[in-house]
Amino acid sequence: MKQILNFAEIKGKLLKMEQDQGKFKRYTITSALPYANGPIHIGHLAGVYVPADIYVRYLRLNEKDVVFIGGSDEHGVPITIKAQNEGVSPQEIVDRYHSIIKKSFKEFGISFDVYSRTSNRIHHETAADFFKTLYEKGEFVEQSSEHYYDEEKNQFLADRYITGTCPHCGNEKAYGDQCENCGTTLNATDLINPKSALSGNAPVLKETRHWYLPLDKYEDWLKEWILEGHKEWKPNVYGQCKSWIDQGLQPRAVTRDLDWGVKVPVEGADGKVLYVWFDAPIGYISATREWAHENGKDWEPYWKDESSKMVHFIGKDNIVFHCIIFPSMLKHEGSYILPENVPANEFLNLENDKISTSRNWAVWLHEYLEEFPGKQDVLRYVLCANAPETKDNDFTWKDFQARNNNELLAVFGNFVNRTLVLTQKYFDGKVPEVTGLTDLDKALIEELKTYPGSIGKSLENYRFREALNELMNLARLGNKYLTETEPWKLFKTDVERVKTILNLSLQICANLALYSEAFLPFTSEKLYGMLNIDRLLWKDGGGNLIEAGHELNKPGFLFEKIEDAAIEAQIEKLLATKKDNEANAAIEVNSQKENIVFDDFVKMDIRTGTILEAEKVPKTKKLLKIKVDTGIDQRIVVSGIAEFYKPEEIIGQKVSILVNLASRKLKGIESQGMILMAENTKGELCFVQPSADFHNGSEIK
Ligand code: MF3
Ligand code: ZN
Repeated sequence: MKQILNFAEIKGKLLKMEQDQGKFKRYTITSALPYANGPIHIGHLAGVYVPADIYVRYLRLNEKDVVFIGGSDEHGVPITIKAQNEGVSPQEIVDRYHSIIKKSFKEFGISFDVYSRTSNRIHHETAADFFKTLYEKGEFVEQSSEHYYDEEKNQFLADRYITGTCPHCGNEKAYGDQCENCGTTLNATDLINPKSALSGNAPVLKETRHWYLPLDKYEDWLKEWILEGHKEWKPNVYGQCKSWIDQGLQPRAVTRDLDWGVKVPVEGADGKVLYVWFDAPIGYISATREWAHENGKDWEPYWKDESSKMVHFIGKDNIVFHCIIFPSMLKHEGSYILPENVPANEFLNLENDKISTSRNWAVWLHEYLEEFPGKQDVLRYVLCANAPETKDNDFTWKDFQARNNNELLAVFGNFVNRTLVLTQKYFDGKVPEVTGLTDLDKALIEELKTYPGSIGKSLENYRFREALNELMNLARLGNKYLTETEPWKLFKTDVERVKTILNLSLQICANLALYSEAFLPFTSEKLYGMLNIDRLLWKDGGGNLIEAGHELNKPGFLFEKIEDAAIEAQIEKLLATKKDNEANAAIEVNSQKENIVFDDFVKMDIRTGTILEAEKVPKTKKLLKIKVDTGIDQRIVVSGIAEFYKPEEIIGQKVSILVNLASRKLKGIESQGMILMAENTKGELCFVQPSADFHNGSEIK
C-alpha cells in the first residue's frame, strides 16, 4: 500500500520523530512471546528478535532506561493437542520448549532483561486481575451461543479439535477454524460431517456463555488513535489496521471452554479459561513485574507513565492483536499507556518456499549453532541485511555465503585486519600519532563524524537494513582510505605519513566496534579485545577514540571464509527434507471410507463428457465456470480447479462427470453436476478421463 502524505502530515511526522528523542524517560520494548510448542527458526529471528535486539542495544548504548521483554506463550489449543498426541501433560510440553527456546535466544545474543513464561503464577494473577478490572467496569458483553460439545468426553471442543469436510473445496480433513487445503477461514459449524478429534464421534451443539470484548464499540476511538494519530507507522502495519477497521470490527470472545490456561476469575465460570490471545500480551506486563521484583525496581512507570515509550516487535500475523485488540484492552482498563509503535515485519521464506514446522522446512537455530559454531553474528548479519521489513523475503544459503564472504569478510574483516596487522608490523602494535593532516584525511575525519547520527536515525525509524548498510559503509570508507593511501608502499619513504594513516584507520576500527555492538555483539566484543579498549557509548562515536601510544592486542580474525562444501551440505539437507516430505506424502493416502452397498453406488449417474468452454469465476482463486457436453445435454458446472488448470488449456478435455447431483449455487452460478478429479496427497488435482475415445454420455459403472 502506498501512502500519500500531504505537506502538513510530513511536517507532523518529522516533528514527531524529533520529539521522540528527548521526550521519553524510559523504554518498554516487547518482543512477541513465541509459543512453547516447538523450537525456533531463522524466520522468528529475522522477523522479530534480531530487530528488537538491535533496537534495545542501541538504546542501551545511549544510556536509556530500558526493559527488554521476552518469554514463552504457553497457553492455547495447539499446545494441548501436541500434549495429547504425545501422551504427556501440556506443562511437560511447555517446560521442554521453554528451555530450548530460551537457550537459543541466549546463544544468539538476544539480550532480554527478562525471559518469562505465561504458566508462571505471577502471570496467572496479573492476567486474572486484568480481566477482573475490565469485568467490574462492565466492559465485556456476555453472550450465550451454541458450540460443539463431545458428549463422550464431556467437554466443549475448541475449533481445532473438530475436523470435517470443507464446504468450499471438499477437503475431508479441514479443521473447525480453517481448511488448510484451500486456506479458507471457517467456523466449526460450517464443516460437513464434523467429528471430534477427542472421541471420533459427531459432536453435538450445546449452549455456552462467554465474555466478549466489544471491539465494535471501540471503532471510533481506534480510528482516531491509529488512522489519525499514527500515520507514521510502517505502511504494512498501518494498511493492515486500516483494512481491519474499514471492514467493521466484531465483538471478540475472550474466554474459552478449555482446561489449560488462566482460569476465568468470576463466579460460575468453571471450566473456562481466558482466550490465549487475551492472556499472552498481558504476559509482557507479568514479565515486567517479575523483572522489577528481581531487580528492585518499580514496574508501573514502564506501563503507566506517559513518559515511557512502548514498542512491540512482532511478525505480521500478530498485527491485529498488538495494534487493535491489546491496545483496546489497555485503553479500557484505564491505567495503561499505549504502544508508540508496532514495527511488524513481513515473513521470511527459505529457498523460495514458506517456512513450515510441520514440513521441517526451516533452519532451526539449535541446528545452525551445531553446524556453524561461533558464527552467530553471520546469521544475525544476513537476517538483518535481508530482513523482511517491507515485503516477504527469501533466505538462501548462497546469499548467506555471499554475504559472509563478500561483505563481512571482504569488507569489514579485511579492513580491520589490514589496519591491525600493519600497526603490529610497523609500530609493534602501538597506536602511532597523527603527524599532519592532508585534505583527504580532513575529509575522512568529517565523514566519520556523520555516522553516529546517520546510523542512529535509521535505527530510530526502525529501518534496520538501512542502518546495517550504513555500518558497512563505514568499513567501506576505511577500505577505500587504505587503498587510496597505500601505507604499505610508503613505510620505507614516509613513515610520518604512515603514522597518520594508521592512526585514523584505527579510529575507524574503534568506531566500528562501537556501532557494531548493536548489530554484531560477538564481533564487537572481539574487536574491542583486539583494540584493547573498553566498551564505548554512542555519544563517543564519530571522534578520536584511541590515544596515540596505546598498546593493541595481537590481531586475530573477525570472520572466516565459508566454503562451498558447507553451503552444499546445507542445500543437500534441505533437498533431503523435500524428498522425505514427498515420500511421506506418498505413503499417507487417506484411509478407506466406510463400506457402502451396491445400491448406494448405482444411485450415482456418472458419464463421460467433454469440456466445451471454461472461464474463471471473478473474485475467486479456485473456481472455474465450465460448460460440459455430457452427451445428454450441455450444462454449466462450477469446479474448484483454477489453481491447477488455466481455462484455455482445458477446452476439449475429456472428463468424467456426476450428472445427477442436485444442482447448487456457487458464487451465484448454478452448478449442475460435478466433474470428477483425482487428488494426490499434496492436494493437486487432475482429471479422470476414459482411456479410449468413447462418445460423450457413456455410462461409468
Ligand atoms: N505466541 C504468538 C505467536 O507466536 C505471539 C504472542 S505475542 C503476545 O504468534 F503478545 F501475545 F505475547
Ligand atoms: Zn477447503
